[in-house]
Amino acid sequence: MSAASIRQPDPLSSGSRIAVSVSNLDIRFGDKANEFTALSDVSVDIPEGSFVTMLGPSGCGKSTLLRCIADLVHISDGSVSVLGRSPREAREDRDFAFVFQDATLLPWRSVIDNVRLPVEVGKHDKSSYADPHDLLALVGLKGRENALPHELSGGMRQRVAIARALVTRPRILLMDEPFGALDEITRDKLNEELLRVWQGTGTTIVFVTHSIPEAAFLGQHVLMLQAHPGRVKEFMKVDLPYPRSLAMRDTVEFIKVTAHLRSLLEECL
Ligand SMILES: Nc1ncnc2c1ncn2[C@@H]1O[C@H](COP(=O)(O)OP(=O)(O)O)[C@@H](O)[C@H]1O
Ligand SMILES: [Mg+2]
Repeated sequence: MSAASIRQPDPLSSGSRIAVSVSNLDIRFGDKANEFTALSDVSVDIPEGSFVTMLGPSGCGKSTLLRCIADLVHISDGSVSVLGRSPREAREDRDFAFVFQDATLLPWRSVIDNVRLPVEVGKHDKSSYADPHDLLALVGLKGRENALPHELSGGMRQRVAIARALVTRPRILLMDEPFGALDEITRDKLNEELLRVWQGTGTTIVFVTHSIPEAAFLGQHVLMLQAHPGRVKEFMKVDLPYPRSLAMRDTVEFIKVTAHLRSLLEECL
């Protein structure tokens, strides 16, 4: 697949549908006597097909927001809608898939059998699911179908986790620091590959990171959160064309974006 021939439209200006709509969201943890507000009055619309990165200081609620979208956290106030429905309905229909920092592969199953796993569980119509072999080729693991997880590097394991997440053809991919544990060169490579996968599949991606260059390199928009309580600092458009290559990070335009994000992040601390 050639990424060079594909140009990504700007979803916000093309009037496309909203994949995730968060409206005046409050998340509180604990009981009344010991209440902790993790998120306060968070509102954001994420257009379908877009790539949004989420950045903010540690503990500002990035994972909590992602987990709300995924129906893993109880909403205290406000609302979250996923493709026009509740997060629970979206989860039941497998509208989204989650990728965590740890690949969480089953160690006794081969690569291909790990990717197949979501197809085997649940009573969904499986005829529309993607071919696990195609997905492994898409993430650059053709030829490693029969390897076991312990035979792979950390980067390869994360590629398997991404292929596994895509097998049900989710319309939304929620990624919580998926490359956070990898070395920089592997992370760079996976950043480029993820953009290729995004451009090839049209999946909406919401991607949490604490790396400024990663947020700027991947995202059409960066959702910057600030802490205490977690709230939106800015929903910033990244005005850099796709396809993006790693060399773009040396350009003045890219450096301007990261400098702006850095100063915003400093205000969030
Ligand atoms: N289940 C929970 N119970 C109580 N507090 C929580 C829970 N989940 C997260 N928190 C708290 O909410 C805040 C935001 O956490 P988190 O979303 O993990 O932040 P981030 O991902 O931005 O580092 C933190 O102070 C964290 O301790
Ligand atoms: Mg987190």
